[in-house]
Amino acid sequence: MEKPNDLILVIFGASGDLTSRKLIPALYSLSNQNLMPEKFALLGVGRSEISSTEFREKMANAIRTFSDEKDPDFSHITGFTEYFEYQRIDYISPPDYKELGRVIQNLCQKHGIGGNIIFYMATPPSLYETISTNLAEAGLGIQSDGFKHFIIEKPFGYDLESARRLNKTLHGLVQEDQIFRIDHYLGKETVQNLLVTRFANGIFEPLWNRNYVHRIEITSAESIGVEDRGGYYDGSGALRDMVQNHLLQMVGLTAMEPPSSLEADAIRNEVLKVFQSLQPIKEEDVEKQVIRGQYTPSKIRGECVTGYRYEKDVDVHSRTETYVAMKFFIDNWRWGGVPFYIRTGKRLPTRVTEVVIHFKQTPHHLFKRVVGKLTGNQLIIRIQPDEGILLKFDMKEPGAGFNVKNVNMDFHYKDLADVRVPSAYERLLYDVMLGDSTLFSRDDEVETAWKFIEPIQRAWKNNPAIKVYGYPAGTWGPEPSNDLIEGEGLTWRYPCKNMADEELYCEL
Ligand code: NDP
Ligand code: BG6
Repeated sequence: MEKPNDLILVIFGASGDLTSRKLIPALYSLSNQNLMPEKFALLGVGRSEISSTEFREKMANAIRTFSDEKDPDFSHITGFTEYFEYQRIDYISPPDYKELGRVIQNLCQKHGIGGNIIFYMATPPSLYETISTNLAEAGLGIQSDGFKHFIIEKPFGYDLESARRLNKTLHGLVQEDQIFRIDHYLGKETVQNLLVTRFANGIFEPLWNRNYVHRIEITSAESIGVEDRGGYYDGSGALRDMVQNHLLQMVGLTAMEPPSSLEADAIRNEVLKVFQSLQPIKEEDVEKQVIRGQYTPSKIRGECVTGYRYEKDVDVHSRTETYVAMKFFIDNWRWGGVPFYIRTGKRLPTRVTEVVIHFKQTPHHLFKRVVGKLTGNQLIIRIQPDEGILLKFDMKEPGAGFNVKNVNMDFHYKDLADVRVPSAYERLLYDVMLGDSTLFSRDDEVETAWKFIEPIQRAWKNNPAIKVYGYPAGTWGPEPSNDLIEGEGLTWRYPCKNMADEELYCEL
């Protein structure tokens, strides 16, 4: 694989969770695969007053804690972090950006790097506009001596209006091909595999529509709480943090028409069409179609777990949702009338992301005697963990009579012993270094996704009577989310860490 050209990576919000948990371990893995530029330096930027030495130590610890290298050889961590520096900044102070420019220039000279720079916005989203504007005004967006790429983390804005404004501001400062709107779910191998599953296998295509699909369910559950991210999360909530971006992107890839090619725009055009066909949820229907919740104190595996309102940097009266479940429709020929159910939450029983296609039942039940619970045909595309695909179908239980039993047919990525699945950030950071924007979101896609979310935000703002349900940490969210699923006896799938297990609260 190609080695990117020499560059400097500048991360804003470098003292934060994203940098430690995902970015630095991803860069470390790229380095282990010899996929980093020959000459590379990293400049962490933030409000915190920390020295470069402390920053290097923090990043080395992050690698030890979060790196998923299978056979970790951490011996070269010190060598790797040697090229890391830290610079304190006041985000709203233009002179600080001039100083930043000087620091970057010195780093370039010190390491013999030309003018290629990547600016990574890993701060709360309210700062993206300020940082980009100040960078451009300090002359740091000019590409005369090398590329200047701006990576903007999700959520891109905090509502439709701010997303539009941010797009407009960015377009006034830099070219579209300098902007990388990141949604790391698009960098996940298994999310990309949704396209391969659908468009490389003739057996699925005829069934992938309203004639054969009863409902589609997408879950992205996390067992962790907000940890140290209260400062960002309390102003965001699950709707902005997960639904507007990661979950809707998965809806887009699950529901889209085949693209004409694998070109970035061909795929984005089809995802955009899905977003444009989302049936708007009327403000007055939000209470019925969207359930929000917040985790309350509980015990998990015998240990007391704090409630959301008592987490660090969270308002004790906060009504920020840590859980969202919703039902909606896609108004097009393929999906008309098929309900889509999506849910996400923190402090749920396990960490799992999956797409479940529930197929319609046969028109007539010939076999009356069933063993266990029949769930019908389901195709489960497991995004994480235990990445793979599971098909559930009914078969005859051996022996007398015609007893029917639901069984599993499954494929697990881990069975491909010699294949390492790269992390999403590994892939995406590598792509930005090479200037490849295939797996990044486009301005119109992001705005259309916000348009769908907007009535929900409005209803929650304008109608305080809409409940924020409490759910004990470690459970599958508020009870009323079960009522969203239409049909007698139908429920959400309650997945476990292992794809083929279900209905068990395995991790509790
Ligand atoms: P954090 O809450 O950890 O915040 C990041 C940094 O931003 C902090 O270390 C802090 O640095 C600075 N910061 C926090 N609050 C404020 C504030 N009110 N004003 C100015 N600066 C502030 O967030 P994350 O790192 O988790 O997330 C950053 C972005 O990355 C978010 O947009 C999130 O959606 C996205 N993201 C996060 C992921 C994750 O796993 N954490 C994964 C994918 C995306 P300092 O005080 O030093 O300036
Ligand atoms: C981020 C959210 O975008 O995605 C976090 O800001 C969340 O709140 C994270 O924890 C989940 O990512 P993953 O890859 O662990 O599913």
